[in-house]
Amino acid sequence: MKISYTLFNDISELSEMDKKLFEMAKKARLQAYAPYSDFLVGCAVLLENGTIAMGNNQENAVYPVGTCAERVALNWISANFPNEKIQKLFVVGAPKDIEVETIPAPPCGVCRQSISEYEDKQKQPIEVYFANLLGKVYKVNSIKTILPFTFSGEFL
Ligand code: THU
Repeated sequence: MKISYTLFNDISELSEMDKKLFEMAKKARLQAYAPYSDFLVGCAVLLENGTIAMGNNQENAVYPVGTCAERVALNWISANFPNEKIQKLFVVGAPKDIEVETIPAPPCGVCRQSISEYEDKQKQPIEVYFANLLGKVYKVNSIKTILPFTFSGEFL
């Protein structure tokens, strides 16, 4: 199975809008509540009406109660803009005190499933970008690219 993605080696290769989303995801990351893992994740999501929503990971002393940045943002969007389509989602995750180059952290499996549900809901793919703090960026055109054999409501 082939996975098709785009790799940007530097933030300067991105469009102006994508640079803005990167900056907003980094800003959201700094407001993450992640006292247990010290792994801070921020997410910026562009809607078709031009709104940019942000999210970050929200942890809990009962670890499984914590929620990833992507789902904090997506669930808020679905609650507040239920009919607005999502164009793209940009996520930046890295340990709290790190500023060196890391491998960009992709969305976890649970978040991939959540993004896939919202793609199905809006009947349109969502572009997903994930980056490190220095601006090395991976992009996939749909989360299904990195979630093969996707489970969906069709099976229910
Ligand atoms: N995390 C996210 O926010 N998004 C992901 O896709 C991967 C993991 C969070 C969850 C937890 O708060 C911390 O990163 C360490 O797993």
